[in-house]
Amino acid sequence: MVKMKLVKWVPLVVAVVLFVSMFHESSALFTPVDNYLIACGSSQSVTFLGRTYIPDSVQSSMALKTQGNSIIVTSNSSVPFPVYQSARIFPSTASYKFDINQQGRHWVRLYFYPLPKSGQNLTSASITVITENFVLLNNFTFKNYNGSYLFKEFAVNVTSDNLILTFIPSNNSVAFVNAIEVVSIPDELIPDQALAVSPSAPFSGLSEHALETVYRLNMGGPLLTPQNDTLGRTWENDAKYLHVNGSAVNYSVSPADIRYKSAVTPEVAPNWVYATAETMGDSNVPNGNFNITWVFPVDPNFTYFIRTHFCDIVSKSLNSLVFNVYINSDIAFPSMDLSSLTSDLSVPYYKDFVSNASSNSNTLTISVGPDSEADIPDAIMNGLEIMKVSNEARSLDGFLPVEILRPVSPSTKSKIGIIIGSIAGALAAVALVGLCCCCLVSQRSKTAHQGHTWLPLPLYGNSLTMTKMSTTSQKSGTASCISLTSSNLGRFFTFQEIMDATNKFDESLLLGVGGFGRVYKGTLEDGTKVAVKRGNPRSEQGLAEFRTEIEMLSKLRHRHLVSLIGYCDERSEMILVYEYMANGPLRSHLYGTDLPSLSWKQRLEICIGAARGLHYLHTGAAQSIIHRDVKTTNILLDENFVAKVADFGLSKTGPALDQTHVSTAVKGSFGYLDPEYFRRQQLTEKSDVYSFGVVLMEVLCTRPALNPVLPREQVNIAEWAMSWQKKGMLDQIMDSNLAGKVNPASLKKFGETAEKCLAEHGVDRPSMGDVLWNLEYALQLEETSSALMEPEDNSTNHIPGIPLTPLEPFDNSVSMVDGVNSGTDDDAEDAATSAVFSQLVNPRGR
Ligand SMILES: *[C@@H]1O[C@H](CO)[C@@H](O)[C@H](O)[C@H]1NC(C)=O
Ligand SMILES: *[C@@H]1O[C@H](CO)[C@@H](O)[C@H](O)[C@H]1NC(C)=O
Ligand SMILES: *[C@@H]1O[C@H](CO)[C@@H](O)[C@H](O)[C@H]1NC(C)=O
Ligand SMILES: *[C@@H]1O[C@H](CO)[C@@H](O)[C@H](O)[C@H]1NC(C)=O
Ligand SMILES: *[C@@H]1O[C@H](CO)[C@@H](O)[C@H](O)[C@H]1NC(C)=O
Ligand SMILES: *[C@@H]1O[C@H](CO)[C@@H](O)[C@H](O)[C@H]1NC(C)=O
Ligand SMILES: *[C@@H]1O[C@H](CO)[C@@H](O)[C@H](O)[C@H]1NC(C)=O
Ligand SMILES: *[C@@H]1O[C@H](CO)[C@@H](O)[C@H](O)[C@H]1NC(C)=O
Ligand SMILES: *[C@@H]1O[C@H](CO)[C@@H](O)[C@H](O)[C@H]1NC(C)=O
Ligand SMILES: *[C@@H]1O[C@H](CO)[C@@H](O)[C@H](O)[C@H]1NC(C)=O
Ligand SMILES: *[C@@H]1O[C@H](CO)[C@@H](O)[C@H](O)[C@H]1NC(C)=O
Ligand SMILES: *[C@@H]1O[C@H](CO)[C@@H](O)[C@H](O)[C@H]1NC(C)=O
Repeated sequence: MVKMKLVKWVPLVVAVVLFVSMFHESSALFTPVDNYLIACGSSQSVTFLGRTYIPDSVQSSMALKTQGNSIIVTSNSSVPFPVYQSARIFPSTASYKFDINQQGRHWVRLYFYPLPKSGQNLTSASITVITENFVLLNNFTFKNYNGSYLFKEFAVNVTSDNLILTFIPSNNSVAFVNAIEVVSIPDELIPDQALAVSPSAPFSGLSEHALETVYRLNMGGPLLTPQNDTLGRTWENDAKYLHVNGSAVNYSVSPADIRYKSAVTPEVAPNWVYATAETMGDSNVPNGNFNITWVFPVDPNFTYFIRTHFCDIVSKSLNSLVFNVYINSDIAFPSMDLSSLTSDLSVPYYKDFVSNASSNSNTLTISVGPDSEADIPDAIMNGLEIMKVSNEARSLDGFLPVEILRPVSPSTKSKIGIIIGSIAGALAAVALVGLCCCCLVSQRSKTAHQGHTWLPLPLYGNSLTMTKMSTTSQKSGTASCISLTSSNLGRFFTFQEIMDATNKFDESLLLGVGGFGRVYKGTLEDGTKVAVKRGNPRSEQGLAEFRTEIEMLSKLRHRHLVSLIGYCDERSEMILVYEYMANGPLRSHLYGTDLPSLSWKQRLEICIGAARGLHYLHTGAAQSIIHRDVKTTNILLDENFVAKVADFGLSKTGPALDQTHVSTAVKGSFGYLDPEYFRRQQLTEKSDVYSFGVVLMEVLCTRPALNPVLPREQVNIAEWAMSWQKKGMLDQIMDSNLAGKVNPASLKKFGETAEKCLAEHGVDRPSMGDVLWNLEYALQLEETSSALMEPEDNSTNHIPGIPLTPLEPFDNSVSMVDGVNSGTDDDAEDAATSAVFSQLVNPRGR
């Protein structure tokens, strides 16, 4: 069984000891604590590669929850493998919930095969699969796929007592799945750290990511199936990935010769992997000095975890094999000398790296080649695993985070119903006490007419009991008070009024389309220009945001916050009416349009205005409010270019005094998201500060926060601008329109301020008040420089460290637009003087 070559060199004693230890190893095989093998929709158990899959209908400690009926199909015509012979088809969102006995990483393996004759055309089905925290598959369809079946393997760290896998069909389609595995992985297998390549540096934080296996190779060896691997992995032969056919020579020894030592166990890779290798061997080439290179097509939008497996099965003596390992033509491990790493021959060794695809290509290349120092030019590789690392959106497929893909579940809806219901109840009670309500009746009777349903809104036919109750009590007992209560939330508009104002939602008045719905320019009866945001009735996510926005905005009045004038919830509509902001979103003045370029002073003033608005949000109200979606499309400009912060759909009240953060599902816009919030899901005002830092960079560099088309290091403005700021060369990447027109001191102050906002950790970031002060200082520096020509200099009396203007956290003197509440004509006019609203939000932006 042991090859002749080796017998000569390995002492018999060692072989015996080895044999004993092998025996010992096999008795200590890893047994997964959680081990679900599920045959979906099957009526009987299915055995495949030595493992038995249990029908999902009989598997205990696992539950299937569907919103509609699921359809079971089985087939006994030819399927690629037995696991694919049945499927469960979901016409609407469905979830499998697995009880997890041991938290930590688990394999999640999914099998898909569009069974023919299933009554549905599964080839055109479109499947999205999410866990509570990660997107595993986004809108996959066999229609565009070059293969008859799909197998996916993920490694997900489960940090609660259950794992919920949710299958979401896309529009008018179905989702399906044939089989699922959820199996524990030993904690040590996938580390938190690896070595980043180019530049070479330690990388940590892997444990917070989900991984997806994209390649797993047994170099120079046969296909290994789950039967040959205690962790149920599949290892394929590498030959088809070789850059040059025949540039490697396979070599193998008996698997029994592999001697596992300390850190490396058969769970890292089975001995079959280490017992075979690709080598340079006696390759038939004149020049023995070349690399063996493997090329792997990958999605360049992701980072990859690369595990290389080595075992010196070729050398006759220690220290004779020294070679280099390259990833994308960057040296990843120079002068690897296996015998000094393992102190022996035939001892497995592995090394983990993290790398992106090679620049400007959709491939990842791995090479091994001889080191110039080596006596014998040879290089070896035994195994290779390449795993995709989930991105900033916690997705392994695209840029959309779970929060966007997950439909609102009925249970969440009912909770919102109850909360809003009780708020409504409380407000109604307060209203009852109010004496003045009666006097308003006659004035308001034309708005509070029949069919008007006050919040909570029975938006869908299936509205909940709690909702109905409060609506009923409204109508019966307190009808006359509706106007008062609703006045707290701004003016109520009838649907007809809205139709008239927008000329029946004339498309020519469309200002923008957002995640929530469409925004139209409107003109009220009295000539007031307004922006009308009409929620998409189908957008269930919109319902919660609609309510948040009404509640938040009705509490807030500030010169630098866009005012809510009123709303309409008649006929299941979700319509918000805002002041019209003539100059639209800040972003459209930065790039992507033909609008004239803003001067540096204008930019500073706009940033200061927005910072004031945010500062007020954070400190002005009784409880601080975190905006959560600060970006250049949510900063609007009125006719005088006064900046106002808009879109409070995602806002949250901040931590109470005794807490330091609120825990919440990550929401916001990709590119602006606070990395700390992302990791810890703990929201503080400093998350807004980070996003504002991104806005500052965007204002300076006039490019999108995220531009995947650019070279990798430039994709993310936060990273890109920070690297230049750290070199003190921010002027190199700033808007060319500003070149030579900016006071260097002002720019420096601005850059430093943005840099502080973008600090990795929230505690290191300044408060919005500090940011505001620094920006005002930058403006002052700019003005001082332009005023140098003039004799008059009245700005030097400002001493750094003392705020230039009072911060006015409770600043309502300027801006209290209470008129829109009481509905008097004066106030309506007041609101009328403010201007356009428009929100050209990237529909998929959040
Ligand atoms: C399976 O095949 C048998 C004959 O091969 C056939 O009689 C039976 O109807 C098939 N069952 C299904 C579900 O297709
Ligand atoms: C199913 O849909 C795919 C893609 O739309 C199409 O190519 C195929 O012909 C359809 N099959 C059947 C049986 O309708
Ligand atoms: C899903 O894919 C289909 C076809 O591949 C496409 O038409 C549809 O727009 C996609 N949906 C989303 C949400 O990306
Ligand atoms: C599809 O698969 C076939 C056979 O596996 C292969 O020859 C072809 O190049 C593939 N096409 C694409 C676009 O990947
Ligand atoms: C869903 O379908 C509707 C109408 O059929 C269409 O307007 C909408 O764009 C579709 N959405 C997606 C994401 O495909
Ligand atoms: C899983 O996540 C938890 C919490 O973040 C962490 O403590 C643990 O180390 C992770 N486990 C693994 C195996 O990465
Ligand atoms: C190893 O190489 C030989 C000769 O090139 C070939 O016949 C054999 O199939 C290879 N073995 C594997 C496992 O690839
Ligand atoms: C994998 O396991 C199966 C079943 O035990 C066995 O038949 C096969 O030979 C094994 N493969 C290798 C490469 O040893
Ligand atoms: C590479 O080798 C395979 C067999 O190992 C052969 O089928 C294929 O045609 C070769 N390709 C080239 C480009 O030589
Ligand atoms: C990478 O992301 C860009 C931008 O979203 C997209 O156009 C491209 O298709 C993605 N690349 C791949 C290989 O999916
Ligand atoms: C091996 O590849 C690396 C990276 O591409 C390159 O720098 C080196 O010169 C190559 N070595 C040989 C012998 O071709
Ligand atoms: C200086 O003061 C005058 C009025 O006193 C004011 O108009 C001007 O804007 C001020 N200049 C600066 C740079 O603050």
